Amino acid sequence: MALWGGRFQAGSSDMFKQVNDSLPFDYVMASEDIFGSIVWSRALVKAGVLTEQEQGQIEASLSALKSDAEQGNIDFSASPEEDIHSFVEAYLTEQLGDLGRKLHTGRSRNDQVATDFRLWVKNHLASLKQDCINFMGALLQCANRHQDAIIPGYTHLQRAQPVYFAHWSLAYVEMIKRDISRIDDLIERMNQCPLGCGALAGTTFAVDRENIAQELGFASPCLNSLDAVSDRDFVLELLFVGSTSMMHLSRLAEDLIFYNSGEAGFLQLGDDVTSGSSLMPQKKNPDALELMRGKCGRVFGNLQALLVTMKGLPLAYNKDMQEDKEGAIDTVNQWHICLCIGVEVLNSMHVNEQATRKAAQQGYANATELADYLVEKGIPFRTAHDLSGQAVVAAIAKGQALEDMSIDDLKNIHSSIESDIYDWLQLEAVLNKRNQLGGTSKQTVTQALYLELENWDNIK
Ligand code: ARG
Repeated sequence: MALWGGRFQAGSSDMFKQVNDSLPFDYVMASEDIFGSIVWSRALVKAGVLTEQEQGQIEASLSALKSDAEQGNIDFSASPEEDIHSFVEAYLTEQLGDLGRKLHTGRSRNDQVATDFRLWVKNHLASLKQDCINFMGALLQCANRHQDAIIPGYTHLQRAQPVYFAHWSLAYVEMIKRDISRIDDLIERMNQCPLGCGALAGTTFAVDRENIAQELGFASPCLNSLDAVSDRDFVLELLFVGSTSMMHLSRLAEDLIFYNSGEAGFLQLGDDVTSGSSLMPQKKNPDALELMRGKCGRVFGNLQALLVTMKGLPLAYNKDMQEDKEGAIDTVNQWHICLCIGVEVLNSMHVNEQATRKAAQQGYANATELADYLVEKGIPFRTAHDLSGQAVVAAIAKGQALEDMSIDDLKNIHSSIESDIYDWLQLEAVLNKRNQLGGTSKQTVTQALYLELENWDNIK
């Protein structure tokens, strides 16, 4: 029987149950719902609604249900109950009769679901943070294995300037660090407890909301009952933080898909994270990376969907808000598996250092050096840029690299060019000149890598 049966003479239609029931997906909050109910039963003792002995019975029964649920021993799909809150209450009533029927005193499913979902999001954010840390560790190990590897850096997907492969890896480490700090910020901002706010207007029973919040692991209670039951900012933020992190994973995936292409030939991916073609025997496709990129579609969609659902909802609770769960559950799952498969890709990936080095030497990626050299000779940068561009045109005409041009040809570009230009144009020299903080010289990259490895050791 539904929790609200008294007002009704006829039961729900099958179609109504299909549209209304959330148990098929909100059963994932079983642990959180039971935990919230246990804490609520303790609050009811302080409010004089339950005796210590009654509360003890309720807690024992709920604890047994919790461990059954956590061990996967409960078949939620066999239950006719509407949602996880009704399920837990029905169970308790079946076990304890009228005593079970006392638990919902002073509480509403509105403050209950807001509390359960906050607990669920907080728990998952903690494990997603660990997933991010693991992913960061895999990036750092990869950089560590290939400390001498040099790759072409691109802008507009045109070879621009060479960078160390570790510098590329550390760029993604910066992104993941921001993802982690967004998770931390979100946990702090959402760390308030709605329980005790009732349906919308607060509760008449003398429960200690500070204590409830504390027992449930929140920093404090929510301050306004209307807001507490209708706020889903924490879900939206979860969806945004997840989307941003997935966007980072997608960009990394895109880089690696390109590096792995036959055209680039910079990498080999492990057999364990690639697949073949049913028709073309030679194929080894980067499916894991393509799915890290592709799953962004649904994850970004989940954010958009909830924004649209929430837009224009009047205060306070509306059933529309039940639509907050499936997208969030999906985002959490996809984000988790993408971070995990990302670790496997990075662990089994091999950089072809000779091929990347060769590519980094091509494409006139040292043309900026020639301009900088001329600046050193006292020529204004804009003129130097122009002259270096002319040198590139001359080199292309002869099918040469800049460093292969004869000194006479270079002197034709500008008479101040001497033979020390060849040292400037050398690959390592190009890299090592970029030795200011944040640049790609060997020294700055190595320092940054060791610093991040040390940080990672402290947080892993
Ligand atoms: N299943 C509902 C949800 O997820 C729980 C809250 C229902 N509250 C109500 N007044 N009908 O949002």
